Amino acid sequence: MIHVQHLTKTYEDLQRGRFVAVDHISFSVQKGEIFGLLGPNGAGKTTVLRMLSTVLEPTSGIATVAGYDVVRDAADVRRHIGFVSNNTAIYDRMTAWELVEYFGRLHGMQRDYLNERLETLFDQLRMNDYRDVPGAKMSTGMKQKVSIARAMVHDPPVLVFDEATLGLDVLVARNLLAVIRSLREAGKCLIFSTHIMSEVERLCDRIAVMYRGKILDSGTLSELRDRHEENDFEELFFGLLNQHEQRIQQSSTAGHSKHVDLDVADFGKGNGQYA
Ligand SMILES: Nc1ncnc2c1ncn2[C@@H]1O[C@H](COP(=O)(O)OP(=O)(O)O)[C@@H](O)[C@H]1O
Ligand SMILES: [Mg+2]
Repeated sequence: MIHVQHLTKTYEDLQRGRFVAVDHISFSVQKGEIFGLLGPNGAGKTTVLRMLSTVLEPTSGIATVAGYDVVRDAADVRRHIGFVSNNTAIYDRMTAWELVEYFGRLHGMQRDYLNERLETLFDQLRMNDYRDVPGAKMSTGMKQKVSIARAMVHDPPVLVFDEATLGLDVLVARNLLAVIRSLREAGKCLIFSTHIMSEVERLCDRIAVMYRGKILDSGTLSELRDRHEENDFEELFFGLLNQHEQRIQQSSTAGHSKHVDLDVADFGKGNGQYA
């Protein structure tokens, strides 16, 4: 469903000059699978997900969604993907139903089909109790579900969750992970980005550890554990990051690379609080 090959994005930045935010990354995600992009802030996760959803154009490399190229067939890609983040705008005066309906119309969906689709979605996400609640009166849990419904209204086979649990209370985050699992059961292809280790550990079928624009390693949790002979996922994660830092330092001839002491505190430890 998703194929990414040597995908690269460079930004022109006033301070940093030409800056490689995503550096030749490759991965694939199948139907019925949850793929986790795990990395600290600034790793490049959002940039990858924005390229997949055609908001940003890649500098080089290839990405396809449901067989469509994100550059050449951008409109087709948009019909096959939905994007959920933690800061989707919910309009105060629109009800849950109206808002999702509005986005369905933006996708050009016909009235009858759209109504049918809304009924299904509101059942599936258990949102019927607040069909008529306006944005201004929604709890964070309701808003989160409306964001998911909005991303799914055109029934895309691929769904992207970019740090979607950020800022949610424990119960709402837990419910979100349950919804994502149910979408996997429904055969969707899912990408889930986070900086919280316990979330990928509990949720994802395969994981890519991302740092400084690169995928340092990827595989199932047990593949990663076997390969690095480390059962503690947190140790494994920081081990990978530290190895990468050491490689950078060794290759910098005059020691230009600044020393970075990586610590759990920098990344917001998961504490196993979700799911
Ligand atoms: N529009 C932009 N211009 C310049 N640099 C950017 C821009 N967007 C993101 N970056 C930089 O690219 C890197 C990756 O950012 P991002 O993809 O948001 O990472 P993540 O989602 O993993 O936190 C960061 O160093 C960030 O500062
Ligand atoms: Mg991000």
